[in-house]
Amino acid sequence: MTGIPDTSTAIRWQDVAALTDLPALGGRLVVVPGGEIALLRNERDEIFAIDNRCPHKGGPLAEGAVSGHSVYCPLHNWRIDLTCGQACAPDVGQVRTWPVRVTDGRILIGLPL
Ligand code: FES
Repeated sequence: MTGIPDTSTAIRWQDVAALTDLPALGGRLVVVPGGEIALLRNERDEIFAIDNRCPHKGGPLAEGAVSGHSVYCPLHNWRIDLTCGQACAPDVGQVRTWPVRVTDGRILIGLPL
């Protein structure tokens, strides 16, 4: 699997947080049916949602350091590309990414129906 999930399939937008609850360069754990999602905000106020499980040994990515389009795992510092979920070379592996939108100051994640 690569890239953002196919959004042509039916999704529902779930309100998960206020934009003000997620500071720049911050992360927040969101629990949804089926798992945990790391909600992350970079210095450009871009918001990303990826599975909260590092492809290396399951580190909590919501607690990682965000820089640009990357998050660094807090356990062993693997760098994960927030746009596609891929671990950056020389590391290999991938986490699932989720569509995000911000409406009226609320952050919504697109989840399968
Ligand atoms: S668990 Fe994330 S780098 Fe090791």
